[in-house]
Amino acid sequence: MEKILITGGAGYIGSHTAVALVDAGYQPIIVDDFSNAEKSVLDGLQKITGQSIPCYEGDCNDKRLMERIFSENELTGVIHFAAYKAVGESTEHPLNYYRNNIFSLLVVLEIMEIYGVENLVFSSSCTVYGQPDTLPVKESTPRKDAESPYGNTKKICEDILTDHVKSKARLSAIALRYFNPIGAHPSGLIGELPTGVPSNLVPFVTQTGAGIRNELTVFGDDYDTPDGSCVRDYIHVMDLAEAHVKSISYLKNKTAPLYDLFNVGTGKGNTVLEVIRAFEKVSGKDLNYKIGPRRPGDVEKVWADTEKINRELNWQPKYTLEDSLRDSWNWQLALSKNPA
Ligand SMILES: NC(=O)c1ccc[n+]([C@@H]2O[C@H](COP(=O)([O-])OP(=O)(O)OC[C@H]3O[C@@H](n4cnc5c(N)ncnc54)[C@H](O)[C@@H]3O)[C@@H](O)[C@H]2O)c1
Repeated sequence: MEKILITGGAGYIGSHTAVALVDAGYQPIIVDDFSNAEKSVLDGLQKITGQSIPCYEGDCNDKRLMERIFSENELTGVIHFAAYKAVGESTEHPLNYYRNNIFSLLVVLEIMEIYGVENLVFSSSCTVYGQPDTLPVKESTPRKDAESPYGNTKKICEDILTDHVKSKARLSAIALRYFNPIGAHPSGLIGELPTGVPSNLVPFVTQTGAGIRNELTVFGDDYDTPDGSCVRDYIHVMDLAEAHVKSISYLKNKTAPLYDLFNVGTGKGNTVLEVIRAFEKVSGKDLNYKIGPRRPGDVEKVWADTEKINRELNWQPKYTLEDSLRDSWNWQLALSKNPA
C-alpha cells in the first residue's frame, strides 16, 4: 500500500482525510504534536477504519523526527495540515504563527527533497482572497492583503511553494484553498474539537443547541446579501477530505516540477440565517439567537468558483448543507455525552 504522511493528521481535517485515504486504499501515517488534538482521535480512527493508523507523536518542525519518519517509511506523498489556525490568537502571538506555520513547511520541503518524495498537498485557505471584487471567486482572482498574521502565513506558504517549484525543484505540489469546512464523519466518532469559545459559526450553533452557550449572536443583518447576514461557502469535511485524495492521485500521474492551486468549496453561498434555519430543521431545536452589530474584520460574502477542481481533479461535493449540519450536530451530541 502506498504511504501518505499527514502532518497534523490527528486534527479536524487531517483525521477525516486519514479515513478518506484508507477508503481509497492508501496507508496514512500521522505526525502530530497534539497541540490541538486529543489522543482519543486515534481510537475513533481505529473504529471507523478497522485498523490502527500509525502515528508519530511530535513536532514536524523537528528535523530529526521528520528524518526518522522519512527513513522508516517509503512515502508516496505528504499532506501538510499541521499549523496553528486561530485568527484572533494569531494577532496576539504572531511570531508563534509565523514560526510554526512557515517553518514547518520549510522543514517538510527540505526533507522531501532529501528523500526524493515529490508529491505534496498543502492546506491553504480562502482567507487569501479577503473580500473579492467579483463572485464567485476563481483561483486566478488576485489575493488581497492579509487581514491577520494567520492569513499572511497562508499567503507566504503559497509563495514559498511557487518559488520552490520555479527553482525546478523535484516537487509536484497542490495548494487547496479551503472555504468553510464544517460537519463531521457521519459515524459521529471523529469531528472538530472544541477549543474555548468558538469563533466559527457552526461550532457556536451546535454548542448553543446543546446548551453550552446561552445565545448565538448573528453579527450584522444589514449586509448586501439576500437576508442581510454574511455569506460563506460551507463544505462538508468529508468532501474536503476527498479533495486531498484526488489531489494525491492527480499528482502521482504528473511530472515534477509542478505547482497548482484549487478552490475547495461547494460553489454555493449560504447566509448565517440560512445555516441557523437548516440547523433548526435537522436538530428539531429552536436556536436562541439575536442580531448584533457587525463584527470588525468580517468579510461580507465569499463563495467559490469550483469549475477548476471539478474539471481537473474530477472532484464534486456530495454532501448538502443539511447533511453537514446533521453530522455536526451528531458530533456535538457525541461530545456532550462523552467529552474529549
Ligand atoms: N478548519 C478550517 O476552517 C480551515 C480553513 C482553511 C484552512 N485550514 C487549514 O487546514 C489545516 C488543518 O486545519 P484543521 O482545522 O484540521 O486544524 P486542527 O488544529 O484541527 O489540526 C491541525 C493539527 O496540527 C497539529 N499541529 C499543529 N502544529 C504542529 C506541529 N508543529 N507539528 C505537528 N503537529 C502540529 C495540531 O495538534 C492539530 O492536530 C491547517 O493548516 C489550517 O490552517 C483550516
